[in-house]
Amino acid sequence: MSSIANSIFTPETAARFDKLASIYPVKRSALVPMLLYAQDEIGYVSNAAVAEIAERLDLLELDVRNVLSYYSMLRTAPVGKYNVQVCTNISCMLRGGFELLDHCKKTLHIGHKETTADGLFSLEEVECIGACCWAPAVQVNYDFHEDLTPAKMDAVLEDYRAGRGKDVK
Ligand code: FES
Repeated sequence: MSSIANSIFTPETAARFDKLASIYPVKRSALVPMLLYAQDEIGYVSNAAVAEIAERLDLLELDVRNVLSYYSMLRTAPVGKYNVQVCTNISCMLRGGFELLDHCKKTLHIGHKETTADGLFSLEEVECIGACCWAPAVQVNYDFHEDLTPAKMDAVLEDYRAGRGKDVK
């Protein structure tokens, strides 16, 4: 049972949070993993999630929001089922990252941080995602796709559209 009355999370996640809050010498160290797990469950970090996490870690909601706003992988609003993150940092830029981003914009008919009308895809331009050796790289939810061209990107999107992509939600 959760240490918080009326947790907004599933019993499994609430138990995971209880454990996280107990394993670090300083409770605050559990903040980033908690935010990520909250996002995995809800799809984004809602105001209610911020309030509960602050309570769990004996922090002010402002402390939680300061960290939440720092990390680009954390979001405060829902995204599409598949969040397409296109890297345009140096390695990817030199290998066609911006062309790939423009191609996604045209193909999906959406811009940066927008979601398709059917709710299937969101698009985001991001900083380095740690796949520089295989640039240009794109992350869809937790899956990486590397050494891309516009044609390969079309195939990746088609896989998700057809339900063949890995669905982490
Ligand atoms: S620069 Fe794109 S993954 Fe590192």
